[in-house]
Amino acid sequence: MQKDTYIGVFDSGIGGISIWKEIVELLPLESTIYLADSKYAPYGEKSQDEITQLCIKNTETLIALGAKIIVVACNTATTNAIDYLRANYNVPFIGIEPAIKPAALQSKSKSIGILATKGTLNSRLFSSTSKRYTQEINTIEVIGTGLVPLIEQGKINSPETRELLTSYIAPMIKANIDYLVLGCSHYPFLLPILKELLPNQVTIIDSGEAVARQTKAILEQEKIIHTEIAKPAKHYIYSNDAIDILEDIIVRFRESGQIPQKIDIQVAYKDF
Ligand code: DGL
Repeated sequence: MQKDTYIGVFDSGIGGISIWKEIVELLPLESTIYLADSKYAPYGEKSQDEITQLCIKNTETLIALGAKIIVVACNTATTNAIDYLRANYNVPFIGIEPAIKPAALQSKSKSIGILATKGTLNSRLFSSTSKRYTQEINTIEVIGTGLVPLIEQGKINSPETRELLTSYIAPMIKANIDYLVLGCSHYPFLLPILKELLPNQVTIIDSGEAVARQTKAILEQEKIIHTEIAKPAKHYIYSNDAIDILEDIIVRFRESGQIPQKIDIQVAYKDF
């Protein structure tokens, strides 16, 4: 693999593929490498030190494979480890954080819900962002315990997932939220069920598109963006656990037109 060629993306598992998709759509000339660290998921229940160690492993794997920029497509990893990564590695890092700011600014009911992992909600970065934007806002923070493992197992539409979500959003509905922030990159997979369960006036927001735009901006700023087709983009998606769910997701993305039919994607197992 060529050095300094790829947009590297990692997550604790399959969740960040929702962000990878936005990047591929926005930057069609760029090649990517995605690491699904499913063997060590979920990150959300781990200590900051454990999360940082996993982020170091993923970062070093991506750099060795030729990443020129790294997208930390995981709220838990970003809120716990991005400062460490930026201080210790010589590539630009893009992080993802719960989109509290747009939700707080646009909320009319002045009540917003945030569904995220324990690791994200307990992080210093999250609490300082939250403090900055939600002074006048009632925020209902709920830990999505158990959701990431269910999504990793492909049990997205299961009764168990539905039951958990119903209980997690109940206090939010009671508090009359009009925005729900998805503060975990796995949760966009739950959008169809959430839309069914939430009242119509609730807008659901996640940070996927914003992360893709920021990735483009930093590539331009650092002058490492591809502006012409040197050779067609190639995408490698690696998991250190079963790959069947990722393969299914890619088929569904192609079938529904969320990614172009023709792009070259290789999904494979890799030990990292
Ligand atoms: N996708 C990760 C996030 O955005 C999931 C965290 C986990 O593995 O618990 O936070």
